[in-house]
Amino acid sequence: MCGIVGYVGQQDALEVVLAGLRRLEYRGYDSAGVAILSPDGHLAVERKAGKLANLEKELSEVSLPGTLGIGHTRWATHGPPTDRNAHPHVDCSGDVAVVHNGTIENFEVLVRGLEDRGHRRTSDTDTEAVAHLVEERYEALGGDLAATVRSICKDLEGSFVLVVAHKAEPDLVVAARRNLPLVIGLGDGENFLGSDVTAFIAHTREARAVDQDQVVELRRSGVTVTDLEGTVVEGDSYHVDWDTDAAEKDGHEFFMLKEIEEQPEAIRATLGGRMQEDGLLHLDELSMSDQDIRDIEQVVIIGCGSAYHSGLVGKYALERWSRLPVQVEMASEFRYRDPVIGRSTLVIAVSQSGETADTLEAVRHARHLRAKVLAVTNTVGSTISRESDAALYTRGGPEVAVASTKAVMTQMTAMYLVGLYLAQVRGTRDPDEVRAHLADLREIPDLVQEVIDRMGPVRALAKQLAGSERVLFLGRHVGYPMALEGALKLKELAYVSAEGFPAGEIKHGPIALIEDGTPVVIIAPRHALQAKLINNVQEVRARGARTIVIATDGDEAVTPYADTVIRIPDTKSLLTPLLTIVPLQVLSAAVAMARGLDVDQPRNLAKSVTVE
Ligand code: AGP
Repeated sequence: MCGIVGYVGQQDALEVVLAGLRRLEYRGYDSAGVAILSPDGHLAVERKAGKLANLEKELSEVSLPGTLGIGHTRWATHGPPTDRNAHPHVDCSGDVAVVHNGTIENFEVLVRGLEDRGHRRTSDTDTEAVAHLVEERYEALGGDLAATVRSICKDLEGSFVLVVAHKAEPDLVVAARRNLPLVIGLGDGENFLGSDVTAFIAHTREARAVDQDQVVELRRSGVTVTDLEGTVVEGDSYHVDWDTDAAEKDGHEFFMLKEIEEQPEAIRATLGGRMQEDGLLHLDELSMSDQDIRDIEQVVIIGCGSAYHSGLVGKYALERWSRLPVQVEMASEFRYRDPVIGRSTLVIAVSQSGETADTLEAVRHARHLRAKVLAVTNTVGSTISRESDAALYTRGGPEVAVASTKAVMTQMTAMYLVGLYLAQVRGTRDPDEVRAHLADLREIPDLVQEVIDRMGPVRALAKQLAGSERVLFLGRHVGYPMALEGALKLKELAYVSAEGFPAGEIKHGPIALIEDGTPVVIIAPRHALQAKLINNVQEVRARGARTIVIATDGDEAVTPYADTVIRIPDTKSLLTPLLTIVPLQVLSAAVAMARGLDVDQPRNLAKSVTVE
């Protein structure tokens, strides 16, 4: 979590850094700060608790000229979100400013040593130790800031992206990376650093990813990357093929509302170019030969939060089509249970950001056990994509709202593609059937658009539910992961206690939660299990529940038991999550809005969770 920005060039650094922070605010919004090196060599630091707007308000009253700067937007780990814990942190003299994403696990030992040597601490953070270490070593290392940072990195344990500015270095910002994301933006007479490319996409679309334990020297004239021994490391740059418009609200009150509307296009992008002329799939990205695919004996899907729910949908598709046994596990639990996997296991790591620490550690563990790891991610060059054997990009474009919408949609689409591809290569589905399923998938973007166009009644319903303290979500088969997703969305956005259950399970306990008027959302599109689901609807209704049923157009089987019916168009039952998820997203956002909450930045959360 936390967003970091670095800039050295010709432009007003404060403007560039603040614009970058605005785009990275989704990564954390407990506090924010900047350090700008003025032309007369003063390193000015401004930082403020709360959202970036608080800092901007404060900055509107001061002047911070300069063409070199660093900035930070924080998701607190060490120390509460106060002014004094906001980044940048400085050394005793104020010559050094440091911003940091991550956690320095051995900071207490480092701090004790620093205090013994006479340094004064002014914050509760782990980060501040780095500023004091730079102060101690800079002169001793001949005034070489990059060498200083390299030497400090060798003493740090944990995960970090560090960006350092020094008063004596008017043409140099130094950054270092371990485990967390850092991207360089390559400009003309100016260069940039960011936690992701959105930080600098308004200025350049040429980017270079920074690898593990590398140190970056950012100057106006160019960029040098070295390993921790100081050996220069060459690396390829890449072109970012979307522009700033993709990361703007475009007239919507919240990014999430815009991102819900972008879903039809996002699905088209995920499907695009992955089908051959003969109507079959072509997934070179898997980097697996047909024989490798035939040798797979089991599949394990890992992910967190919504990505885990996409994985659950993937299980139904992969098992049905490829006949492989599939387990789905929360990435945070995976490596601690000594999983039984090996060379014949395909592990699929699902992650929008490609930086989620739980998923990354699970990937590392799986590879250590010699499993083949496929990343399903939205982020080109992300740590998970680079540390996996192969990456299938979901191509959803930037997702700014903390709550995942189009990312989940495209992850599920990608899971269907993987399921069909495995079936195609392993011969568990004949080519005509694969073609037919792909044809059904190609119709989905238009159907999703239809659902989006019908969401007026869902927004009206949200107003009625805004006062509810508890909402339950029920589904069977692929409706079950959507019940989990609906509940997660309502919890994270509207702070309403919400739980999702397999509908058949409620009679084993959860039905006790139902009181007169408890809203229960039942995901009940037409499919083979619908008769059983109708029994469950009747069971909860008999106990006083207010039943809100998501049903297929023209299907009247459930309507007698529904207080409210939300209609979706018909599609194959296995693909229904791609449609049923939309009213769940809209409902949660609308309940949150009715409660006067910030839909894009819910409390206590950050989009990219880079701590375990
Ligand atoms: C969902 O709305 C959440 N923001 C969250 O559960 C998210 O899906 C999870 O943290 C995983 O993130 P990732 O896809 O970037 O790994």
